[in-house]
Amino acid sequence: MAFISFEGIEGSGKTTQIKRLLTWLSRSHRPVLHTREPGGTEIGDAIRQILLHPQHTEMVPEAEILLFSAARAQIVHEVIRPHLQQGWIVICDRFYDSTLAYQGYGLGMPLEALQQITAFATGGLQPDLTLYLDIEAEAGLRRKAQTPEEWNRMEAKELAFHRRVRDGYLALAQAEPERWVIIAADQPEAIIQSQIQECLSAHFPFLRQE
Ligand code: TYD
Repeated sequence: MAFISFEGIEGSGKTTQIKRLLTWLSRSHRPVLHTREPGGTEIGDAIRQILLHPQHTEMVPEAEILLFSAARAQIVHEVIRPHLQQGWIVICDRFYDSTLAYQGYGLGMPLEALQQITAFATGGLQPDLTLYLDIEAEAGLRRKAQTPEEWNRMEAKELAFHRRVRDGYLALAQAEPERWVIIAADQPEAIIQSQIQECLSAHFPFLRQE
């Protein structure tokens, strides 16, 4: 059983790296599930539309937190847990650490309350390993600005917000070093990918490939 989450600010390259990783994992001939948050279920996708809609600027942080958590509860119970129980490798593009980083550190909502809501939503499920792709907020936003049609309500927030999110991620990683691995995301794509693969092979010996 392997439950692996990816975290990072906008423009950290998570999506590209996960795509490459899935190709590599397919060679292990083990069943792999790839999900993303918010979304990944019919209900979660509907919640995603509400959450990320660029015009929903009046959304209060409390509503935002509960909506992200509702989508998470749905995917954990409907998809992630059953697959883990059947021995699948689960790769999650964002999990509850995104709520702690964005709504906690970014928006300044109380971390303790967020941890309680998160534990309720997930039933206490935690990733075995969290890979954090670290990039400075300026560099990440610069990358993301190259595809402005993809901009959502979260990405439109100011630079200071994204800096707080990044600092939040680094604090979370420091607090739980046995679960987190920090990977510098300002390196060439292929190097980042080989570091990710090495890291997974070290944590999960059944994934080692010659
Ligand atoms: P998405 O388009 O999936 O972006 P990315 O490719 O960066 O993952 O949008 C998800 C956005 O929602 C992203 O800006 C991070 C934000 N988010 C939160 O603020 N809190 C959360 O709990 C989650 C899961 C995501």
